[in-house]
Amino acid sequence: MKRIGILTSGGDAPGMNAAIRSATRTALYHGLSVVGIYRGYQGLVEGDMFEMSSRSVGDTIQRAGTMLRSARCPEFESYEVQKRAVENLAASGIDGLVVIGGDGSLRGAAALSKLGVPTVGIPATVDNDIACTDYSLGFDTAVNTAVDAITKIRDTASSHGRNNVVEVMGRDTGHLALAAGIAGGAEYILIPEKPFDIQEICEGIERGYASGKTHCIIVVAEGVGGYFGPDMSLYDSIGFQIGQQVRKRTGLQTRVTVLGHIQRGGTPTVKDRLLGTMFGSRAVEALIHGDTSKIVGLSGNRLCLFDIEEVVSKRKPIDEEMYRVATLLSGM
Ligand code: ADP
Ligand code: F6P
Repeated sequence: MKRIGILTSGGDAPGMNAAIRSATRTALYHGLSVVGIYRGYQGLVEGDMFEMSSRSVGDTIQRAGTMLRSARCPEFESYEVQKRAVENLAASGIDGLVVIGGDGSLRGAAALSKLGVPTVGIPATVDNDIACTDYSLGFDTAVNTAVDAITKIRDTASSHGRNNVVEVMGRDTGHLALAAGIAGGAEYILIPEKPFDIQEICEGIERGYASGKTHCIIVVAEGVGGYFGPDMSLYDSIGFQIGQQVRKRTGLQTRVTVLGHIQRGGTPTVKDRLLGTMFGSRAVEALIHGDTSKIVGLSGNRLCLFDIEEVVSKRKPIDEEMYRVATLLSGM
């Protein structure tokens, strides 16, 4: 291995820059040359690349986003487009690839591995929904951002004796909602993995106020399904749908906040900087040792390599113990 490429793809996640920086400097340390590929698979297919040096990644560890920029490139699911990417890699003399991204991006990495490109993936998504690894880059920063918002919302909710619905990201999973809901002290946490009865929740809210509660925070994962009636549009986010139902069924003042993309930005936490650094370095050293078609990850605090096919073929289950504890703490 003489020359590696690095790309970031899909939704950006705080900690991606730490991983790029570490992968670049680890490769340079071992005498490899490094090519930065802009805009994920889009840039790979278009040949949008540049030569990286140690200076290219200076002053980046503290920044969220990705200095290599990111994109969604749906065409990359086609075999013909993947072949073009393989040709571009060969034409640029790149003999190993580090892919930093979420679930979809790692599927792209698995496809390139199958086509013979030595590839190692780094899980990076605020959703923390990648199988096998306990942790994906960006999750800790996003949870902290969400908890900070919930804490502020709780102040005003208590003053006014209101219900506040807070919708968080997570795509079709509830890992982010569960962690943010527990750490934010939410009364209810609604996630796609667990069915719920909106009427039961409303009755619980009424009991809570009757027993002296001064507010009710309901954290809702964006991926929770459900369409509650003709007066809502299918385009209304689930947070607004839940808020409307709670207001209608309890007759209580209810406010809704959709946290949205603020969860993807902000200064990466120490955890995301450290893990980005360790993941980046490990990915490059795995490539050098021929340990390819792998995903770097964390298992019980240990840095590990997982088989890429295994990772992309599994769905990450919710932490049942965390969910159980969350439900018994609601106090409603
Ligand atoms: P994330 O990586 O954050 O989960 P996406 O699911 O949008 O984001 O995936 C990012 C990109 O990864 C897609 O735009 C596409 O280029 C590529 N990708 C996703 N799924 C596949 C797949 N099955 N095969 C090849 N490439 C894929
Ligand atoms: O996968 C990360 C994520 O932030 C999801 O939580 C969210 O559903 C999605 O990306 C939003 O994507 P976009 O950046 O296209 O709005």
